[in-house]
Amino acid sequence: MASIAVIPGDGIGAEVTAEAVRLLELLRGEGLPLSWRTFDYSAERYLATGVALPPGGREELASFDAIFLGALGDPRVPDMAHAREILLETRFRLDLYVNVRPVRLLHASHTPLKDRTERDIDFVIFRENTEGPYVGAGGFLKPGTPDEVAIQEWLATRKGVERILRHAFEAARRRPRRRLVMVDKHNALRFASEIWHRVFREVAKEYPDVEARHLFADTACLLLVQDPSQFEVIVTDNLFGDLLSDLGAALAGGLGLAPSANLNPQTGKGLFEPVHGSAPGIAGTGRANPMAALLTAAMMLEFLGQGEAAARVERAVRACIAEDLVTPDLGGSLTTRAAGQAVLDRLSKGAA
Ligand code: NAD
Ligand code: IPM
Ligand code: MN
Repeated sequence: MASIAVIPGDGIGAEVTAEAVRLLELLRGEGLPLSWRTFDYSAERYLATGVALPPGGREELASFDAIFLGALGDPRVPDMAHAREILLETRFRLDLYVNVRPVRLLHASHTPLKDRTERDIDFVIFRENTEGPYVGAGGFLKPGTPDEVAIQEWLATRKGVERILRHAFEAARRRPRRRLVMVDKHNALRFASEIWHRVFREVAKEYPDVEARHLFADTACLLLVQDPSQFEVIVTDNLFGDLLSDLGAALAGGLGLAPSANLNPQTGKGLFEPVHGSAPGIAGTGRANPMAALLTAAMMLEFLGQGEAAARVERAVRACIAEDLVTPDLGGSLTTRAAGQAVLDRLSKGAA
């Protein structure tokens, strides 16, 4: 029996997670060995109690086979203190160093690029998930004065860089064209990006069968829009990966379709979340697209050894997109619930 900790979170995070849970219910009803428990870690709870995660909370989450998270973020917590504790610290403490963010155009009509089809937009971003400028090293000097100084350190360790690079090279080996692009900014970031560049050149030598290239982050943005078909595997730092994954999502139909997984392949721990945030602007309106969350649930099912169920979910999502059974972000008129239901209907009818 696979156990899942479910954290709906804030805003549309909770709304799309409700659809993912209904998917799990349907699959469990079919006999899939799944169990889950819901945790109300959120801005609401943080504001009410002053605590983002109770003592022992993270250890408890880690005891599940997988964690599913909707999204965190609430205008009432402007410094994102609760999200840092619940999401970023969990990525760090569980050492979930591989952030997998696939970018796949599921239907040609949903890319903003001219004359591009499904074949042109199909790559995966491996975002380093435990280092970079995200580690929270830094501080303020003379806060609140005209002489105030802010320092934000950018961490890159040899081990941290090497392990994500190796993971990406291994993944590139399994892709048809065996193409990998490492993205950094070593023309400007003299230290953190330079170690990426050096280790990349070393590791690349061990993978002569992989066509490995380097791009500066700015050029990578340019080329992703000009010709996304050249990309198969992208590996990059935490911050660049965050930026490129939203850009990638935009190429493939928007944040409403972008799934992600945070993994540690050595410990077998995994946290699954759509790439999007809590979207406070549309929270409560029923306009949130649940498909990113459903595709994220598919990634989680695959991870839990339920590859067949994962493939069915993906086919059901594709079928709905092809039939325009979609929310307003994709030009449809369905609500979050109705779009989720359309996917479930296709699954249970056996159409998928
Ligand atoms: P966002 O991803 O929440 O929204 C960006 C834009 O995309 C908005 O216009 C939103 O309406 C739209 N959008 C996002 N998901 C959608 C969906 N499923 N269906 C339809 N439209 C969708 O980013 P933001 O507005 O910059 O951030 C809002 C909050 O979420 C902030 O507090 C931010 O820090 C947080 N955030 C959290 C996560 C996470 O928990 N993993 C990720 C990103 C942002
Ligand atoms: C993401 C989000 C987070 C990140 C935020 C909420 C801290 O944007 O998962 O992409 O920057 O990693
Ligand atoms: Mn992001």
